[in-house]
Amino acid sequence: MEEQAFLWEPAKYVEFGDFRNRPFFDLTSRITAASPRSVVDLGCGPGNLTATLSERWPGASVLGIDSSAAMVAEADRLSTTRDAGPAAGAAANQPPGLAFVQGDITSWAPDEATDVVVSNAALQWVPGHLDIMAAWLPALRPGAWLGVQVPGNFGAPSHVLMRELAASARWRKQLDGVLRHDDAVGEPAEYHELLMRGGLRADVWETTYNQLLQGENPVLEWVRGTGLRPVLAALGTDSAEFEREYSALLAEAYPRGGFGTLFPFRRIFMVGEKQ
Ligand SMILES: C[S@@+](CC[C@H](N)C(=O)[O-])C[C@H]1O[C@@H](n2cnc3c(N)ncnc32)[C@H](O)[C@@H]1O
Repeated sequence: MEEQAFLWEPAKYVEFGDFRNRPFFDLTSRITAASPRSVVDLGCGPGNLTATLSERWPGASVLGIDSSAAMVAEADRLSTTRDAGPAAGAAANQPPGLAFVQGDITSWAPDEATDVVVSNAALQWVPGHLDIMAAWLPALRPGAWLGVQVPGNFGAPSHVLMRELAASARWRKQLDGVLRHDDAVGEPAEYHELLMRGGLRADVWETTYNQLLQGENPVLEWVRGTGLRPVLAALGTDSAEFEREYSALLAEAYPRGGFGTLFPFRRIFMVGEKQ
């Protein structure tokens, strides 16, 4: 299994916790499965949110899967069962409890035992994820649930400015092909169609959270935990210079006001129960 070409830093990612966590709860509150036995969280990150699924459904075997060794190592501290085994996605036949395994979303597929599939803020990292999701749906049994959230902010100044700077004469050579574009995710209507075609009763919506961030350069700090990571990895020691230019652009796009820095963040949610 291939690790992503850049490294995740669990401690950096969990900064801004409430803003990062809230969409997960907004998503999973719409999954009304009563007593699932087999729950999987794809791209589970540091596992803190996966653990809430285990608390919510104590009779379930909850398996978090992530391709990052650092994230899985962090998540593993929360495991209550240690025998998930190497087969990513093999949540069936596992005892109730919480386990984590390193694995790639692209090689996972549901089976007839899968009751709930959750993926929060992860599928935007997986090229072609609409096709991958479409392939999962026929394998879900009636009554199984899917809940996915992806950021819908690839057209926001934070991303546009990052891409424009990366494409500028100074950085183009080092950053060619490193960043995703605004087609990294679909639009709500596309996901709606995808779920309906897959035989799910679909509940799709979008929300823009008006996030009021505090501190110096908070938008830069935010993207350092996620979207900027591929740039930092590609530039190595040059990344400080890129960050200097980028943070000047961010300061203009997201001026600090009397109450903090407003960083609107659009997210797309989809939940469905297989009919
Ligand atoms: C933004 S974090 C979200 C973590 C967690 N779901 C949450 O909501 O806090 C995205 C996670 O997706 C994981 N990821 C990205 N591509 C992946 C892939 N192809 N397979 C498995 N995990 C992947 C990353 O390693 C990272 O931990």
